[in-house]
Amino acid sequence: MQRQAKATQMSGISDPSQPLATPSQRGGERAFAAPRTNGSDAQKAIITEFLGQARLSLTSKLDRFIQLRINSRRDKFMSGRKNERDILKRKLKAGQNIHMPAPRRIGKTWTINRLAEDMRREGWLIVELDVQGMSAPDKFARRLCQKIQNQLPTPSGLHAAFKNRLHALIGGNWGTDPINVIGQVDPVSFLDALLEALAKEDKQSAIFVDEIAYFVLRFAERNEGDAKDFFYELRNLQAEYSNIRWLFTGSIGLNFVAERFGLGGAFVDLTTFILEPFDEAEARSFLRDPATQMGFNHQFHASDEDLKVLFEELGWLAPYYLKLVGNEVRPSGPEQDGRLTAKQEDLQDAMEKLLEPTRKSEFAVWREHIDKNLPQTDRDLARGVLGPLSAAADGETLDTLQAAMVPATPKAVRDILDILQSDGLIDLTKGTKGRYRFRSGLIRRYWQQYEAD
Ligand SMILES: Nc1ncnc2c1ncn2[C@@H]1O[C@H](COP(=O)(O)OP(=O)(O)OP(=O)(O)O)[C@@H](O)[C@H]1O
Ligand SMILES: [Mg+2]
Repeated sequence: MQRQAKATQMSGISDPSQPLATPSQRGGERAFAAPRTNGSDAQKAIITEFLGQARLSLTSKLDRFIQLRINSRRDKFMSGRKNERDILKRKLKAGQNIHMPAPRRIGKTWTINRLAEDMRREGWLIVELDVQGMSAPDKFARRLCQKIQNQLPTPSGLHAAFKNRLHALIGGNWGTDPINVIGQVDPVSFLDALLEALAKEDKQSAIFVDEIAYFVLRFAERNEGDAKDFFYELRNLQAEYSNIRWLFTGSIGLNFVAERFGLGGAFVDLTTFILEPFDEAEARSFLRDPATQMGFNHQFHASDEDLKVLFEELGWLAPYYLKLVGNEVRPSGPEQDGRLTAKQEDLQDAMEKLLEPTRKSEFAVWREHIDKNLPQTDRDLARGVLGPLSAAADGETLDTLQAAMVPATPKAVRDILDILQSDGLIDLTKGTKGRYRFRSGLIRRYWQQYEAD
């Protein structure tokens, strides 16, 4: 009996104060109900219970481990733009040249960098070129040439073919580096020679040009006629060397810029693929991805429900803003696996922190966007409509904005709203009485606090 009492105590069967005292937690109703008639029954009950618990604990650990692995694989998959990369790759392989517009900070550069890696692994020669700060075609030609050279072993076929072509163009007075020729021949002839040589390479090649619309805008502002000639020539070269694929990205509406300077026709051959912000599932997996969490000041857990509220407030799930907020989270909820849980207030506080004056620079791209990328009249009008739009999360109707902006014509107001919508700063709600509003609650509050008159 003594043995039985001790054993019973150890197993916690008869002690109602034991924390593990519910049948389901202990993993065996049979063990719970085991009659305490004699020692061997009790021993059996103990062993059964022990085995049940051990099995459960092992199974749940295994389950947890498997779940973590699945989550982390799914997380990587979901926020890694895998879908988009696959679509872009398929389109390029199918012979399309692409324009991929997306608002500032949405992940254009990140996505095309990863796409370049994907395609290089499949044997493509991918040249990546950022043209954001450019305003002249010789710089474009020089950078493209350097980037292509970087991708190739020096004694490559391209090198020799390109040199021969340049010799034929201007003779041999330029040393050994083709870059020296820039300035002596016009950029289009130089590009023609370069692309001809690239097209003859064994590898299938593609050129990814990041931020084309800025280049078009800056160039056309300096010299509209030359810009028109150059971009139409570039289109001809694309058609001529049609086995070289092109992918252009842009944060400002290429169509608006091209139309304004009468060179809309230079970009008509491109297939448009819009890079959207994350959806909620992608945003959740992005925030929970161990790689993202590693970069935060404090790593944290957050429930789907709490994240949902945050996402509604953010409105616009771009990785950049998710990262900004995530970095500010100071979790104060219960600990789980060595990490604290962020409560609703913690997420809210993180948003508020970003709106402090010291953090203004993090939103500077949007002020720049209005002040540098629009002509003066459009700029004044843009600021004119963004002020009232920033006053409320649900924005304003077109009629109200047009009335508020008199003497600007109703058409001018609608045009500027189209531009702001295409640049991703605002959107238009569906329905007959659609309302223009800021896409991001965070940027709206920044604008209201620091930019609106
Ligand atoms: N899918 C992603 N996973 C992880 N980080 C990402 C992802 N997409 C973007 N980022 C991060 O978000 C930030 C903005 O991304 P990126 O620079 O690619 O945006 P962008 O659209 O090119 O912006 P900009 O218009 O200012 O050039 C970067 O810090 C980048 O590392
Ligand atoms: Mg970029």
